[in-house]
Amino acid sequence: MAKLVVNGETRRVDAPGDMPLLWVLRDLLDLKGAKYGCGIGQCGACTVLVDGGAVRSCITPLEAVAGSEVTTIEGLGGDHPLQKAWIALQVPQCGYCQPGQIMQAAALLAETPQPTDAEIDTAMAGNLCRCGTYLRIRAAIRAAAGAAA
Ligand code: FES
Ligand code: FES
Repeated sequence: MAKLVVNGETRRVDAPGDMPLLWVLRDLLDLKGAKYGCGIGQCGACTVLVDGGAVRSCITPLEAVAGSEVTTIEGLGGDHPLQKAWIALQVPQCGYCQPGQIMQAAALLAETPQPTDAEIDTAMAGNLCRCGTYLRIRAAIRAAAGAAA
């Protein structure tokens, strides 16, 4: 039995310690926002925050996050400046990569509230979008940073 705090709520999970966090979130806790893309830490679709930092939940075992605070896209609540900017600038195309993109961006803004374009590009480089929404993603991060300033 592992205990973790997910989106502000303490959750107890009866699962093997090597179960990927992504399965815990999606299959056991019914949080379907984080997506399965590659399963090997290479695409970013499964990105969530663990104690404020962006992690790839597909390669993060449950035992590594016991006692930690996990935030998923559902935990941003809908009113987060990034989510508002994403909607205002109509960032998503198919949408599949976007929860991971937003969580990666949330980690960036938490650490660097006013990032340069270069800092945005570096932080987001590991989050792939097969629809090519990269320019809108960067614009939305800039807009959210401006809104938060
Ligand atoms: S599904 Fe986790 S990085 Fe691709
Ligand atoms: S919006 Fe389709 S993969 Fe990014």
